[in-house]
Parts: sequence; C-alpha cells; structure tokens
Amino acid sequence: MDSNQCFHKGSHKIITAVLPQNPLLAALVPGAGLSRRPGDPVDPGGKTVYIGSMANPQYCRLSVLGLTPFTPSNGEARFFALRLPRPSGAAWSNWRPGQFVMLRPDSFGLELPWGRPMCICHVTDGCLICFFQSLGRGTRRMAALKRGDPVSLWGPLGNGFSVEEDAPTLLLAGGMGIAPFVGYVNTHPKPWNVAMLFGHREALECYPVNNINEFIALESYLESGPGDLRIFVDAVRARMRDCAEHNGLVLACGPAPFLRVVRDFSLALKMRAQLSLENAMACGVGACLGCAAKTTQNWPVPEKRGHPVQVCRQGPVFWADQVEL
Ligand SMILES: Cc1cc2nc3c(=O)[nH]c(=O)nc-3n(C[C@H](O)[C@H](O)[C@H](O)COP(=O)(O)OP(=O)(O)OC[C@H]3O[C@@H](n4cnc5c(N)ncnc54)[C@H](O)[C@@H]3O)c2cc1C
Ligand code: FES
Repeated sequence: MDSNQCFHKGSHKIITAVLPQNPLLAALVPGAGLSRRPGDPVDPGGKTVYIGSMANPQYCRLSVLGLTPFTPSNGEARFFALRLPRPSGAAWSNWRPGQFVMLRPDSFGLELPWGRPMCICHVTDGCLICFFQSLGRGTRRMAALKRGDPVSLWGPLGNGFSVEEDAPTLLLAGGMGIAPFVGYVNTHPKPWNVAMLFGHREALECYPVNNINEFIALESYLESGPGDLRIFVDAVRARMRDCAEHNGLVLACGPAPFLRVVRDFSLALKMRAQLSLENAMACGVGACLGCAAKTTQNWPVPEKRGHPVQVCRQGPVFWADQVEL
C-alpha cells in the first residue's frame, strides 16, 4: 500500500469470509512456535521476533496529511483513519505492529494537557496511520483535524506483537482492537499462515477491514442481538483449539472482558497467547504510574511477581499468563 492509497476505501470487495477451509491446518510446519518469553536469555530459533522492551521513542512535530471518515451507510462518522507523514529517524525504521504513539494535536490547547495513546495502525513509506473512534473530549477534537493541522507525537512506544513467520497465527480482534492488525498483516512475511476473527458492534464499513482482507482471510461477527456474543465466543474457542493443536500463536486486542475470555481459553488450552492491554494512560512513557497492571506468578523476573508493571513501558503486549486483567 503506498501513502496515497492508505485507507481509501474500495467498494468492490466482499469482506466477510467464512472460510471454506481452515488456513491454520494448512500452515503446520514442524518446529513452528519456538517462542521466547520475555526475560529468556537466548534466542532459540533465530527467526522469531520477540516481545521486547521499549525502543528509543522520538518526539516529533507533524502536520496532518488527511483524515478519512469511515461512515456507516445509516449514520454519522465516529471512526477515522488519521494520516500523518512518516516520522524520520532510526526508531521508525524498526517499528513493530502492536506498538503505539502518544498523539497530541495543538487543538487540545490548555484544556487537555495529555496526549492520547493510539495504536500504530500501519506505517508505509510515506505515512503513519492511526485508526480511532471518537469517544470523548480528546478524540472528538482529533475527529475535527484538517490537512495541515499541527500535532505532537511520541513514538514508537511499547513493545509490539511477536511475529513467528512459520507458526499458524490467529488474530483475535474486538472492536477497535482491529487497529494494530492492519500493520501486522501488511508486514507479516508469510500472511498465508495468519487468520483473523473479528467481533464488532458497529457496521463493518466502520472498520479498516479491506486493508486486512486483501492479505488474509477474515471472519467477522456482528454483535447486534442477545445471542450473537455467544456465537463469537464459541468461534473464538473453536479456532483457538485448532491453533493450539498446531502449536500456533494467538494475538488478541480489544476490550478487557474480551481479553479475559481469550486469556482463560489460552490457559485452559495451555497455548501461547499475547494480549494487548489498553489501560488508560497519561504520560505514555513510564513517568506517571497511571497505567499499571499487576503481574502474575509467571512473570519472568521473580522479584517482580505480584507487583505492578507499567503497561506503557513493559507492554502494551503481554503474554496472557503473565499479567492480571
Ligand atoms: C496502548 C493503547 C492503544 C490504543 N489504541 C487505540 C486506537 O488505535 N484507536 C482508538 O480509537 N483508541 C485507542 N486507544 C484508546 C484511546 O486512547 C482512548 O479511547 C482515548 O484516550 C480516549 O480519549 P478521549 O479524550 O476521547 O476520551 P476521554 O474523555 O478521556 O474518555 C471518554 C470515554 O472513553 C473511555 N476511555 C478513556 N480511555 C480509554 C481506554 N484506554 N480504553 C477504553 N476506554 C477509554 C473513558 O472511560 C470515557 O468513557 C488506545 C489506548 C491505549 C492505552
Ligand atoms: S502512562 Fe504514565 S507510566 Fe504509563
């Protein structure tokens, strides 16, 4: 995708795909899934990219390139893709899907001193894209941004998801949790090993599904009535079981109740799963302790077990069995 094409929606695609075959079954490779855990000293496979610690984030001033609304046919736009020039500098040549930025438009003025954390949705040669939902005071102001408006940005922040190119990889997204997976599937070296389940409450055209569906199969589940959530949860469990049988990797992003479900399934199946936490953040860079999560007894550093960790620095991506939700 070049910078001019980013997030210009196509109208021709059939988006929702209930797969005729399970791509995870086709993706079994002996030896796949040698995943290192945070804190492990040695790289066992040489091919795996691991959850790592925070890179050196950069501060930069950027001018908005454009804001694309994702408007449902029957309503007003509350979802937007914000395009910014790709920041220059070493930190941005090594960005990883799952990392985030702190974004602060000048229009926040004196009333909103803190930036807002946003996943890096994708980075192309020319632009950095964030996909956001207008919710409160900050994101409403972001939704009014125009081409040329100045913003301050800190990033890339946090760690990012693992990429195991030969492992069957199941992406699980709930609502806005879809955002980091655009970059993930666009940069995955072997996207045929990746499949995705997406549960959402708004119409599908509110989300950047085209930018995912052109690379991997995506099954979408709209929650519009009482029984729909159960159907989605059952599908998640069935796909996770498949993935576990092939020593695959599960990556999940979405609201906390959804992450708890994924965590519980992953523990029951004894499989590897990473969760991206969206704890509310103020500074985003490890200075305020506002984003803390508590570690479990599986945290790799013994003296930090049962202690708070900063999601902005040690996360936002964690192994499912290493933090409490
Ligand atoms: C690491 C990380 C990555 C994120 N990535 C994205 C993204 O890619 N796209 C996106 O739209 N949002 C993302 N968020 C959530 C986003 O930061 C919040 O929605 C935003 O800060 C709300 O700001 P506001 O000023 O509009 O709302 P506020 O006025 O601060 O709050 C409005 C409402 O949003 C709720 N809220 C505030 N923060 C969060 C949060 N972190 N999660 C859920 N609800 C919250 C409040 O409880 C309140 O009900 C991310 C959050 C984190 C921590
Ligand atoms: S947001 Fe301030 S320490 Fe994480």
